[in-house]
Amino acid sequence: MNNPLVYLNGEFLPLDQARISVLDRGFLFGDGVYEVIPAYGGHLFRLKQHLDRLADSLAAIRMAPPLDHEQWLDLLKRLIADRPGDQGIYLQITRGADSKRDHEIPQGLTPTVFAMATPIKPPMPEQAERGIGCITLDDIRWAHCNVKAITLLANVLLKQQAIDEDAYEAILIRDGQAIEGAASNLFIVRNGLIITPPKGPQLLPGITRDLVLELAESAGLPYAEASIDLDELLFADEIWMTSSTKEVMAVTRLNGQPFQGGRPGPLWYQITRLYQACKERLRLGEEHC
Ligand code: PDD
Repeated sequence: MNNPLVYLNGEFLPLDQARISVLDRGFLFGDGVYEVIPAYGGHLFRLKQHLDRLADSLAAIRMAPPLDHEQWLDLLKRLIADRPGDQGIYLQITRGADSKRDHEIPQGLTPTVFAMATPIKPPMPEQAERGIGCITLDDIRWAHCNVKAITLLANVLLKQQAIDEDAYEAILIRDGQAIEGAASNLFIVRNGLIITPPKGPQLLPGITRDLVLELAESAGLPYAEASIDLDELLFADEIWMTSSTKEVMAVTRLNGQPFQGGRPGPLWYQITRLYQACKERLRLGEEHC
Protein backbone atom coordinates (compact mmCIF):
# COMPACT_ATOMS: atom_id res chain seq x y z
CA MET A 1 0.00 0.00 0.00
CA ASN A 2 1.81 3.11 -1.22
CA ASN A 3 -0.70 5.62 0.00
CA PRO A 4 -2.41 4.06 3.02
CA LEU A 5 -5.14 5.72 5.04
CA VAL A 6 -3.79 7.45 8.11
CA TYR A 7 -5.55 9.22 10.98
CA LEU A 8 -5.05 12.94 11.53
CA ASN A 9 -7.11 15.05 13.93
CA GLY A 10 -10.39 13.19 13.66
CA GLU A 11 -10.17 12.19 10.00
CA PHE A 12 -9.00 9.15 8.08
CA LEU A 13 -7.30 10.26 4.87
CA PRO A 14 -4.62 9.11 2.41
CA LEU A 15 -1.09 9.60 3.73
CA ASP A 16 -0.15 12.02 0.96
CA GLN A 17 -3.05 14.29 1.92
CA ALA A 18 -2.19 14.48 5.63
CA ARG A 19 -0.93 17.99 6.46
CA ILE A 20 0.07 19.81 9.62
CA SER A 21 0.98 23.43 10.26
CA VAL A 22 4.65 24.50 10.21
CA LEU A 23 3.82 26.16 13.55
CA ASP A 24 3.02 22.79 15.11
CA ARG A 25 5.04 22.56 18.32
CA GLY A 26 5.96 18.99 17.47
CA PHE A 27 7.72 20.31 14.35
CA LEU A 28 9.27 23.37 16.02
CA PHE A 29 10.21 21.99 19.47
CA GLY A 30 9.75 18.21 19.38
CA ASP A 31 6.97 19.00 21.87
CA GLY A 32 5.05 15.73 21.87
CA VAL A 33 4.96 12.05 22.75
CA TYR A 34 4.33 8.80 20.90
CA GLU A 35 3.66 5.07 21.09
CA VAL A 36 4.42 2.14 18.80
CA ILE A 37 1.74 -0.54 19.19
CA PRO A 38 1.90 -3.84 17.31
CA ALA A 39 -1.22 -5.62 16.06
CA TYR A 40 -1.14 -9.33 15.24
CA GLY A 41 -3.87 -10.73 13.01
CA GLY A 42 -5.97 -7.64 13.71
CA HIS A 43 -5.55 -7.90 17.50
CA LEU A 44 -3.89 -5.03 19.33
CA PHE A 45 -0.95 -6.16 21.45
CA ARG A 46 -0.99 -5.04 25.10
CA LEU A 47 -3.17 -2.04 24.30
CA LYS A 48 -3.92 -1.16 27.92
CA GLN A 49 -0.23 -1.09 28.79
CA HIS A 50 0.56 1.10 25.77
CA LEU A 51 -2.27 3.51 26.58
CA ASP A 52 -1.25 3.66 30.24
CA ARG A 53 2.30 4.54 29.23
CA LEU A 54 0.94 7.13 26.78
CA ALA A 55 -1.07 8.70 29.61
CA ASP A 56 2.09 8.80 31.78
CA SER A 57 4.08 10.44 28.96
CA LEU A 58 1.33 13.03 28.41
CA ALA A 59 1.12 13.81 32.12
CA ALA A 60 4.92 14.23 32.24
CA ILE A 61 4.75 16.92 29.53
CA ARG A 62 1.69 18.57 31.11
CA MET A 63 -0.87 17.49 28.53
CA ALA A 64 -4.31 16.01 29.09
CA PRO A 65 -5.14 12.84 27.12
CA PRO A 66 -7.04 14.02 24.01
CA LEU A 67 -9.06 10.77 23.84
CA ASP A 68 -10.20 8.17 26.36
CA HIS A 69 -9.52 4.42 26.23
CA GLU A 70 -12.67 3.58 24.23
CA GLN A 71 -11.97 6.34 21.72
CA TRP A 72 -8.36 5.20 21.23
CA LEU A 73 -9.57 1.63 20.80
CA ASP A 74 -12.11 2.69 18.20
CA LEU A 75 -9.57 4.81 16.31
CA LEU A 76 -6.87 2.11 16.29
CA LYS A 77 -9.30 -0.63 15.29
CA ARG A 78 -10.53 1.46 12.38
CA LEU A 79 -6.94 2.13 11.35
CA ILE A 80 -6.11 -1.59 11.10
CA ALA A 81 -9.49 -2.76 9.78
CA ASP A 82 -8.99 -4.71 6.54
CA ARG A 83 -5.30 -5.17 7.34
CA PRO A 84 -5.10 -8.70 8.71
CA GLY A 85 -1.29 -8.87 8.44
CA ASP A 86 0.91 -7.83 11.34
CA GLN A 87 1.00 -4.06 11.75
CA GLY A 88 2.98 -1.57 13.77
CA ILE A 89 0.88 1.42 14.70
CA TYR A 90 2.71 4.68 15.18
CA LEU A 91 0.66 7.08 17.32
CA GLN A 92 1.89 10.60 17.95
CA ILE A 93 0.40 13.47 19.90
CA THR A 94 1.92 16.92 19.84
CA ARG A 95 0.87 20.00 21.77
CA GLY A 96 -0.54 21.47 18.55
CA ALA A 97 0.00 24.59 16.47
CA ASP A 98 0.25 28.05 18.00
CA SER A 99 0.15 31.37 16.13
CA LYS A 100 3.86 32.03 16.81
CA ARG A 101 7.04 30.28 17.97
CA ASP A 102 7.44 30.72 21.71
CA HIS A 103 9.04 28.34 24.22
CA GLU A 104 6.40 29.07 26.86
CA ILE A 105 3.64 26.49 26.82
CA PRO A 106 0.52 28.17 25.40
CA GLN A 107 -2.81 27.39 27.04
CA GLY A 108 -5.79 26.00 25.19
CA LEU A 109 -4.08 24.61 22.07
CA THR A 110 -5.77 21.77 20.24
CA PRO A 111 -3.33 18.84 20.22
CA THR A 112 -2.31 17.27 16.92
CA VAL A 113 -3.14 13.56 16.90
CA PHE A 114 -1.62 11.41 14.17
CA ALA A 115 -1.66 7.63 13.69
CA MET A 116 -0.47 5.38 10.90
CA ALA A 117 -0.14 1.62 10.53
CA THR A 118 2.77 0.00 8.69
CA PRO A 119 3.26 -3.72 8.06
CA ILE A 120 5.81 -5.24 10.43
CA LYS A 121 7.87 -8.30 9.75
CA PRO A 122 9.44 -9.64 12.90
CA PRO A 123 12.70 -11.44 12.07
CA MET A 124 12.43 -14.94 10.59
CA PRO A 125 13.70 -17.65 12.97
CA GLU A 126 17.05 -18.07 11.08
CA GLN A 127 17.55 -14.31 11.14
CA ALA A 128 16.66 -14.10 14.83
CA GLU A 129 19.13 -16.92 15.58
CA ARG A 130 21.90 -15.04 13.83
CA GLY A 131 21.42 -12.34 16.46
CA ILE A 132 22.55 -8.73 16.33
CA GLY A 133 25.72 -6.75 16.86
CA CYS A 134 25.83 -4.01 19.48
CA ILE A 135 28.38 -1.43 20.53
CA THR A 136 28.55 0.30 23.90
CA LEU A 137 28.28 4.09 23.80
CA ASP A 138 27.96 6.85 26.38
CA ASP A 139 24.34 7.68 27.08
CA ILE A 140 24.08 11.28 25.87
CA ARG A 141 20.29 11.53 26.38
CA TRP A 142 18.36 13.73 28.80
CA ALA A 143 17.19 12.98 32.36
CA HIS A 144 13.61 11.89 31.54
CA CYS A 145 14.11 8.83 29.37
CA ASN A 146 10.99 7.25 30.91
CA VAL A 147 8.93 9.72 28.84
CA LYS A 148 8.30 8.43 25.31
CA ALA A 149 9.04 11.84 23.81
CA ILE A 150 9.23 12.42 20.05
CA THR A 151 12.42 14.41 20.72
CA LEU A 152 14.75 11.59 19.66
CA LEU A 153 17.82 13.33 18.26
CA ALA A 154 20.23 11.71 20.73
CA ASN A 155 18.72 8.26 20.04
CA VAL A 156 18.98 8.84 16.28
CA LEU A 157 22.67 9.84 16.52
CA LEU A 158 23.48 6.90 18.80
CA LYS A 159 21.72 4.42 16.51
CA GLN A 160 23.51 5.84 13.47
CA GLN A 161 26.87 5.55 15.21
CA ALA A 162 26.12 1.88 15.85
CA ILE A 163 25.24 1.40 12.17
CA ASP A 164 28.38 3.27 11.07
CA GLU A 165 30.38 0.80 13.17
CA ASP A 166 28.68 -2.20 11.56
CA ALA A 167 26.40 -2.89 14.51
CA TYR A 168 22.60 -2.89 14.78
CA GLU A 169 22.07 -1.20 18.13
CA ALA A 170 23.91 0.86 20.74
CA ILE A 171 23.91 -0.21 24.39
CA LEU A 172 23.96 3.00 26.39
CA ILE A 173 26.27 3.42 29.38
CA ARG A 174 25.65 6.02 32.07
CA ASP A 175 27.84 6.36 35.17
CA GLY A 176 29.35 2.93 34.52
CA GLN A 177 25.92 1.24 34.26
CA ALA A 178 24.42 -0.35 31.14
CA ILE A 179 20.95 1.20 30.81
CA GLU A 180 19.13 0.25 27.58
CA GLY A 181 19.48 0.51 23.81
CA ALA A 182 18.88 3.54 21.57
CA ALA A 183 15.47 2.01 20.72
CA SER A 184 15.23 -1.11 22.91
CA ASN A 185 15.53 -2.38 26.48
CA LEU A 186 18.41 -4.43 27.81
CA PHE A 187 18.54 -7.84 29.49
CA ILE A 188 21.49 -9.98 30.52
CA VAL A 189 21.66 -13.53 31.80
CA ARG A 190 24.23 -14.43 34.44
CA ASN A 191 24.45 -17.87 36.05
CA GLY A 192 20.87 -18.63 34.97
CA LEU A 193 19.48 -15.36 36.37
CA ILE A 194 17.71 -13.01 33.92
CA ILE A 195 18.53 -9.39 34.82
CA THR A 196 17.15 -6.11 33.48
CA PRO A 197 17.73 -2.63 34.92
CA PRO A 198 14.94 -1.33 37.18
CA LYS A 199 12.47 1.24 35.88
CA GLY A 200 13.27 4.88 36.57
CA PRO A 201 13.93 8.14 34.74
CA GLN A 202 16.98 6.69 33.00
CA LEU A 203 15.07 4.28 30.74
CA LEU A 204 11.85 3.72 28.85
CA PRO A 205 9.53 1.29 30.69
CA GLY A 206 9.26 -1.06 27.72
CA ILE A 207 6.09 -3.04 27.15
CA THR A 208 8.14 -5.92 25.71
CA ARG A 209 10.44 -5.73 28.76
CA ASP A 210 7.47 -6.22 31.07
CA LEU A 211 6.12 -9.10 28.99
CA VAL A 212 9.52 -10.85 29.07
CA LEU A 213 9.51 -10.59 32.87
CA GLU A 214 5.93 -11.94 33.01
CA LEU A 215 6.88 -14.85 30.76
CA ALA A 216 9.93 -15.59 32.92
CA GLU A 217 7.74 -15.50 36.03
CA SER A 218 5.10 -17.82 34.57
CA ALA A 219 7.77 -20.29 33.41
CA GLY A 220 9.47 -20.24 36.81
CA LEU A 221 12.68 -18.73 35.38
CA PRO A 222 14.56 -16.68 37.96
CA TYR A 223 14.84 -12.97 37.20
CA ALA A 224 15.80 -9.73 38.90
CA GLU A 225 15.37 -6.02 38.23
CA ALA A 226 18.83 -4.79 39.13
CA SER A 227 21.44 -2.43 37.77
CA ILE A 228 23.99 -3.89 35.37
CA ASP A 229 27.49 -2.48 35.47
CA LEU A 230 29.68 -2.42 32.39
CA ASP A 231 31.76 -5.43 33.49
CA GLU A 232 28.63 -7.49 34.14
CA LEU A 233 27.50 -6.66 30.63
CA LEU A 234 30.82 -7.55 29.02
CA PHE A 235 31.06 -10.86 30.93
CA ALA A 236 27.37 -11.83 30.78
CA ASP A 237 26.34 -15.30 29.58
CA GLU A 238 23.65 -13.80 27.33
CA ILE A 239 22.56 -10.31 26.29
CA TRP A 240 19.12 -9.55 24.81
CA MET A 241 17.59 -6.34 23.50
CA THR A 242 13.78 -6.03 23.40
CA SER A 243 11.27 -3.83 21.60
CA SER A 244 7.71 -4.01 20.31
CA THR A 245 8.74 -4.26 16.67
CA LYS A 246 11.92 -6.35 17.02
CA GLU A 247 10.74 -8.56 19.93
CA VAL A 248 13.61 -10.28 21.79
CA MET A 249 16.94 -9.99 19.97
CA ALA A 250 19.99 -11.98 21.02
CA VAL A 251 23.26 -10.05 20.98
CA THR A 252 25.85 -12.20 19.20
CA ARG A 253 28.52 -9.53 18.56
CA LEU A 254 29.65 -6.93 21.05
CA ASN A 255 32.04 -4.08 20.27
CA GLY A 256 33.15 -5.74 17.05
CA GLN A 257 33.89 -9.19 18.57
CA PRO A 258 31.77 -12.35 18.59
CA PHE A 259 29.87 -12.50 21.87
CA GLN A 260 29.61 -15.88 23.64
CA GLY A 261 30.62 -17.85 20.55
CA GLY A 262 28.46 -15.66 18.29
CA ARG A 263 25.31 -17.65 19.16
CA PRO A 264 22.19 -16.98 21.22
CA GLY A 265 22.17 -18.68 24.61
CA PRO A 266 19.69 -21.30 25.87
CA LEU A 267 17.50 -18.88 27.82
CA TRP A 268 17.01 -16.74 24.73
CA TYR A 269 15.58 -19.78 22.93
CA GLN A 270 13.25 -20.45 25.86
CA ILE A 271 11.99 -16.86 26.14
CA THR A 272 11.59 -16.58 22.36
CA ARG A 273 9.44 -19.71 22.28
CA LEU A 274 7.25 -18.35 25.06
CA TYR A 275 7.00 -14.97 23.34
CA GLN A 276 6.00 -16.48 20.00
CA ALA A 277 3.42 -18.72 21.69
CA CYS A 278 1.94 -15.66 23.38
CA LYS A 279 1.68 -13.83 20.04
CA GLU A 280 0.04 -16.85 18.42
CA ARG A 281 -2.62 -16.98 21.14
CA LEU A 282 -3.36 -13.31 20.53
CA ARG A 283 -3.42 -13.81 16.76
CA LEU A 284 -6.02 -16.55 17.17
CA GLY A 285 -8.03 -14.25 19.39
CA GLU A 286 -7.85 -16.89 22.14
CA GLU A 287 -6.67 -14.69 24.92
CA HIS A 288 -5.00 -11.39 25.55
CA CYS A 289 -1.28 -11.74 25.55
N1 PDD B 1 11.11 2.13 20.65
N2 PDD B 1 13.81 1.94 24.97
C1 PDD B 1 13.75 2.88 24.00
C2 PDD B 1 14.64 4.07 24.09
C3 PDD B 1 12.86 2.71 22.92
O1 PDD B 1 12.77 3.67 21.97
C4 PDD B 1 12.04 1.55 22.86
C5 PDD B 1 11.05 1.30 21.75
C6 PDD B 1 12.14 0.59 23.89
C7 PDD B 1 11.29 -0.66 23.92
O2 PDD B 1 9.97 -0.34 24.30
P1 PDD B 1 8.73 -1.26 23.86
O3 PDD B 1 9.04 -2.66 24.28
O4 PDD B 1 7.58 -0.70 24.59
O5 PDD B 1 8.64 -1.14 22.36
C8 PDD B 1 13.03 0.83 24.93
C9 PDD B 1 10.08 2.09 19.63
C10 PDD B 1 9.75 0.74 19.11
C11 PDD B 1 10.40 3.12 18.57
O6 PDD B 1 10.84 4.19 18.95
O7 PDD B 1 10.18 2.87 17.38
